[in-house]
Amino acid sequence: MEKIAVIYWSGTGNTAMMAKAVAQGITDAGAEAEVFSVDKFPVGDIDKYSKLAFGCPSMGDEVLEESEFDPFFEAIEGKLSGKKVALFGSYGWGDGKWMKDWQDRVESKGAKLYGEGLIINGSPDADGKALCNNLGKGLVSF
Ligand SMILES: Cc1cc2nc3c(=O)[nH]c(=O)nc-3n(C[C@H](O)[C@H](O)[C@H](O)COP(=O)(O)O)c2cc1C
Repeated sequence: MEKIAVIYWSGTGNTAMMAKAVAQGITDAGAEAEVFSVDKFPVGDIDKYSKLAFGCPSMGDEVLEESEFDPFFEAIEGKLSGKKVALFGSYGWGDGKWMKDWQDRVESKGAKLYGEGLIINGSPDADGKALCNNLGKGLVSF
């Protein structure tokens, strides 16, 4: 069975809820989802996966979380070329700039980005969770 990693950072749980719903979509589509809080992901394992979903909320001033997630991403982004990637994250008051920048960053590394990064304001409601499910499902057939 195809294994897809879902790797996320979440301070207050919103992006974690999104990660769970993305993983559910992956499972529903018949693949295996392996979900990791970013601090639990062994960086050397990145090459085990040809498809990955990454989740991080907008932090700082419209940037990825800077103490754990961004250093992780810096460490692995050189290995994303040719991989199929989906992005998601929660935000508060901004306009989604962090996600646009993140999409550009991922594409500049030669990864194939599935659709647009999924952004949800605050905590995902039932509709938001359905969007997350669809992101996971879409990544399976991408
Ligand atoms: C230190 C800090 C910085 C933040 N910066 C932004 C920001 O620049 N733009 C924005 O839209 N939301 C910002 N937020 C709001 C978070 O993105 C929002 O609360 C999100 O739901 C947190 O997701 P989480 O529960 O997965 O941690 C910030 C929150 C914190 C705590």
